[in-house]
Amino acid sequence: MMIRTVSVSPFPDQKPGTSGLRKKVPVFQTPGYTEAFIQSVFDSLDGFEGKSLVIGGDGRFYNREVIQIAIRMAAANGFGRVLVGQGGILSTPAASHLIRKREAFGGLILSASHNPGGPTEDFGIKYNISNGGPAPEKITDAIFARSLSIDHYKVADFGDVDLDKIGTFEAGGMTIEVVDPVTDYADLMETLFDFAAIRKLVDDGFKVAFDAMHAVTGPYASEILVRRLGVDAALVFNATPLEDFGGHHPDPNLVHAKALYDLMMAPEAPDFGAASDGDGDRNLIIGRGVFVTPSDSLAMLAANAHLAPGYKDGLKGIARSMPTSGAADRVAAKLGVEMHETPTGWKFFGNLLDAGRCTICGEESAGTGSDHVREKDGLWAVLLWLNILAVRRQSALEIVKDHWAEFGRTYYSRHDYEAIETDSANQLMAAIEDSLVRLPGRQIGSLTIANADSFTYHDPIDGSVSRNQGLRIFFEGGSRLVFRLSGTGTSGATLRIYMERYEPDPAQHDQDTQAALQPLIEAAEAIAEISSRTGRDAPTVIT
Ligand code: G1P
Ligand code: ZN
Repeated sequence: MMIRTVSVSPFPDQKPGTSGLRKKVPVFQTPGYTEAFIQSVFDSLDGFEGKSLVIGGDGRFYNREVIQIAIRMAAANGFGRVLVGQGGILSTPAASHLIRKREAFGGLILSASHNPGGPTEDFGIKYNISNGGPAPEKITDAIFARSLSIDHYKVADFGDVDLDKIGTFEAGGMTIEVVDPVTDYADLMETLFDFAAIRKLVDDGFKVAFDAMHAVTGPYASEILVRRLGVDAALVFNATPLEDFGGHHPDPNLVHAKALYDLMMAPEAPDFGAASDGDGDRNLIIGRGVFVTPSDSLAMLAANAHLAPGYKDGLKGIARSMPTSGAADRVAAKLGVEMHETPTGWKFFGNLLDAGRCTICGEESAGTGSDHVREKDGLWAVLLWLNILAVRRQSALEIVKDHWAEFGRTYYSRHDYEAIETDSANQLMAAIEDSLVRLPGRQIGSLTIANADSFTYHDPIDGSVSRNQGLRIFFEGGSRLVFRLSGTGTSGATLRIYMERYEPDPAQHDQDTQAALQPLIEAAEAIAEISSRTGRDAPTVIT
């Protein structure tokens, strides 16, 4: 076999963000760019000679091309086997499962998640380690360091692999196995949830709607929801994955999944609606007439998980990212289990899950998952909800109201200011940071600031420390504001402002969320001077 060593100059911008390296497609198409990054990943790993590498992506534009490059480079670098999803497809949770099941050394997941796809849109590459989870900072830092000094990459000379044909091939001294991306994952779901009970619920007339957003979950939803659980195929929307997601953002929130939201708010709405994102790790949950915020969904799933066979023995603990609301903390306290607060990004849950310190994890950004894989998992969340609904035989709205009555309601919202100037965003954050020490005691409208800090995470398992993970402002009475900059955007900066207010009184549980948070919205403006610093008078997205 012919292995070529190709010279390349380092690219200065290959620092992995919250979830791998994300750039516009034309950047990845720059000659040598994709290869330099993949080689930097391989150069940062030890001991993969002869071992397996999982490769798959969410099917977006450029997915197939990068898979061919990655396969040829894996062969040249000495991997023994590549496992690749048929058609180049693997949802992020399915890739995580495949790495674990086949005891692979690691995996390359090609996705830019919920960001749009197409020739001028977003692409991404993420490396996952042998536990199936995103590489921890130690590795992503090493990848970035390597990318700054790389001078060559290695590639084997063989033709394109037929990604559409399931089977095993030899090329470049390596075995290439094209696998069915759906079956293993669907089987895993069947071990966790009571499919018979869910099927009975559906047979009894419970209507489930699912929007795959022309993204990767289409084939998974068709197999699991329609074929195995009997859901009406006419209510599974946009189930064919498209390279450009039909021109939409495959982001399951109230802006981009508005059609589903409108359907679920209509008088004749189905009983339960859900959606997932580009790579299948996020979830949107909407009961008839009720949107369940991801922070609430995490709390409700944790409180009811024991109703599903996979969690019948209870939870070892719960973990949430810092900006996620404290709703799950109240559940953990009641269950008497550990609660962990980590920085944003699923990679921070890996150590806790591996150490058996938590079973269920979640993020306010529509990510929920458990120790069954090491990624968040959109369909998993949908199936756990369905399992709970099948056991409790109540509506989603009743379950939500019961939960609030028992634990109190946490009003929660995130305001995003997308694609603002990077300099203004950095200056805004620096100004808040400078003011942190002076904030306690300050009164803004009806609110008084109790405390303020910059969040630092001390990983209880490996002792690593992650600083600058968001600026937190705590108010007397338990309300909170968090400011941070996104680590996944590809143009300018995105400012995220997270607001929450705890309300124990059931008589106060029917307020409009934005109205309930108005004092915090005003406090955010007073503290951060958002309009004058960004030139924006309103957020781009409110979730
Ligand atoms: C966003 C979300 C974060 C999530 C990540 C990857 O990151 O906020 O919770 O883990 O996408 O899906 P951000 O852009 O805020 O850095
Ligand atoms: Zn995603």
